[in-house]
Amino acid sequence: MAERGGAPRRRRQEEPRGGGRGEPSQSRRGAGDAAQPEPDGAPATPDFRCHRLQDSLLSSASGYSNYRGILNWCVVMLVLSNARLFLENLIKYGILVDPIQVISLFLKDPYSWPSLCLVIVANVFALAALHTEKRLATGSLSERSGTVLHTINLLTILCFPALVVLAVNSITPVGAVFTLAVHTILFLKLFSFKDVNKWCRERRRAKGVPAHSGAASGLQRANGDVPPSGGVSYPANLTYRDMYYFLFAPTLCYELNFPRSPRIRKRFLLRRLFEMLFFLQLLVGLIQQWMVPTIQNSMKPFRDMDYSRIIERLLKLAVPNHLIWLIFFYWFFHSSLNVIAEVMQFGDREFYRDWWNSETVTYFWQNWNIPVHKWCLRHFYKPMIKRGMGKWTAQTAVFLASAFFHEYLVSVPLKMFRLWAFMGMMAQIPLAWFVSRFLRGNYGNAAVWMSLIIGQPIAVLMYVHDYYVLNYEGRQ
Ligand SMILES: CC(C)(COP(=O)(O)OP(=O)(O)OC[C@H]1O[C@@H](n2cnc3c(N)ncnc32)[C@H](O)[C@@H]1OP(=O)(O)O)[C@@H](O)C(=O)NCCC(=O)NCCS
Repeated sequence: MAERGGAPRRRRQEEPRGGGRGEPSQSRRGAGDAAQPEPDGAPATPDFRCHRLQDSLLSSASGYSNYRGILNWCVVMLVLSNARLFLENLIKYGILVDPIQVISLFLKDPYSWPSLCLVIVANVFALAALHTEKRLATGSLSERSGTVLHTINLLTILCFPALVVLAVNSITPVGAVFTLAVHTILFLKLFSFKDVNKWCRERRRAKGVPAHSGAASGLQRANGDVPPSGGVSYPANLTYRDMYYFLFAPTLCYELNFPRSPRIRKRFLLRRLFEMLFFLQLLVGLIQQWMVPTIQNSMKPFRDMDYSRIIERLLKLAVPNHLIWLIFFYWFFHSSLNVIAEVMQFGDREFYRDWWNSETVTYFWQNWNIPVHKWCLRHFYKPMIKRGMGKWTAQTAVFLASAFFHEYLVSVPLKMFRLWAFMGMMAQIPLAWFVSRFLRGNYGNAAVWMSLIIGQPIAVLMYVHDYYVLNYEGRQ
């Protein structure tokens, strides 16, 4: 809560009291101040002045900036208004939270586990990439053939699970999202693995080391420098252990020697683990109790094309949707990734930066999902810029790729191709231009928040509406 004795009191302590700026402090004493004797011993004249030249706190000229109390008031209001919403929801729908139902979101048939089978099969792609790299390192495979094999492998990682999801009926949409997300992460990781090993070979070739020479000497070490003690150098990194460490590490960018934390901090790990479990339960509860009924109630206005009701539903959905998104951010980027990193002693914990202060859309995308942003920069954006592509073209290409993956993760599981996610991602480019061109500071920050709060429920409602029409209305 608000800092006791906040800025106003401190200002009064620090600043001279009394009249206008620059007056000597003796003459600035307030009305109640005791009269001080004059230096020559004569009785002092009491100073009854209690006014001075000063601005009101809320005018910008006052230079006052401590709004902690207002922030606390916002939090209290938020809690109170949400408590009311919570009660209203309970009275209207009763308790909808059902942990058993979560299992049915992943499994349609208890004897058929297609999502899990697909995740197990994903190991084949990782091993294929490792063996291709091993052969490239020894020189028994040409660079050209290596590139072809890697390309086939990477395309299969994306196409194979998508085809299975589209063909198998026992896979649920949630199970399919999980499986496709695993395969997307694998695709990005193996793309990075292939690139980094290629850079190592190029460096080795530039130094004139033959392909079959085995582990490199000090000067030939990968990553451009001598690995720390215990570190590996190319091609000694091409082992199952190294590959699986990378596959489970909370990063999409491969490195031969990741920074490692010295030990596992048990208290830190337990705290993050507790958060991870707690927020997961909270997410499931909020979705079942708050989000699902709101979405269900939005279908009729959509069917009737009742625009004022659609906007009302949209704004109603925006609150739980945004809250769930914020909790998801903390659950995934702070709690879960830190749990994995702590267990694996993975040292680089920069999974996010202060995206909440974004005054431009560009700043948001640079800071909200650091693993993806790092991958985009290192393996897509910078290589394109190096080849002479313009900055705007390269940025558009990155957003196109990102839009493709967003659409892939939604359309394939829903078996419905509507391009709302794709368009939402592509809309970031004109939005970024608009915000940076016309809005600054707090206005820019508010615009970013607005796009997050309103943009997501629009996409959610579009997909749910289309899914509902396709799967339920058609059958009635
Ligand atoms: C497209 C994207 C990569 C652009 O990133 P950005 O940081 O705005 O790009 P910038 O042009 O500012 O430059 C980034 C880097 O390229 C370098 N660069 C830019 N232009 C360059 C040029 N002409 N020559 C050499 N280097 C250049 C910059 O120096 C900078 O390097 P640094 O990272 O080492 O500081 C970023 O917006 C992004 O990641 N978008 C997609 C995010 C996404 O889809 N996330 C999904 C989350 S669910």
